[in-house]
Amino acid sequence: MVEITELERLVKERLSKKRANHVFSVARQAGKMALRYGVNTEKAEIAALLHDITKEVDPAEQLKMIQEFDIIKDNVILESPSLYHAVTARIYARDILSVQDAEILNAVRYHTTARAGMSDLEKIIYLADAVSEDRDYKRVEEFRRLAMDGLNRCMLEFLKYSIRYLVRDECLLPVDTIQAYNEYCRMAGHQNER
Ligand SMILES: [Fe+2]
Ligand SMILES: [Fe+2]
Repeated sequence: MVEITELERLVKERLSKKRANHVFSVARQAGKMALRYGVNTEKAEIAALLHDITKEVDPAEQLKMIQEFDIIKDNVILESPSLYHAVTARIYARDILSVQDAEILNAVRYHTTARAGMSDLEKIIYLADAVSEDRDYKRVEEFRRLAMDGLNRCMLEFLKYSIRYLVRDECLLPVDTIQAYNEYCRMAGHQNER
């Protein structure tokens, strides 16, 4: 397993001070949630430390990495530079740091879009990124509470919140995000009645 102290050093080296602080906040939040939900805390911290590791790499360079080392079927991701870093962070973790744990790699890969069939570790990283202590938006306190009170309910609420904003701003919706939303709706027992 990759060393946490080594990852902390890498985060400081590759990211601005502000973003490094964000990453350390996500790692603390993910550790707390992992304890709460009986998930391996070391894996949660490692995934959190890796989640934004390529975020400051030039988007054109990231797109090249994606085309060379991954297969992305959803064009929306290729058309959205802000989503590249989740794909390239997985490539970086897998190919440069030799992280082999599929759960960690998936938690990194799906931290921006979510997807259907997420493991608890994936949900924890997605939500820890949304509610870490450096985050400041109107409903953050509510989501922080929900994050400790049931992963699936919090996933549904945060997906509703973020999809609403994406639609408001006429942003493209990744297929994975729609499939995640549908899954948590079904779990909550919702179906179309109209
Ligand atoms: Fe990110
Ligand atoms: Fe992040």
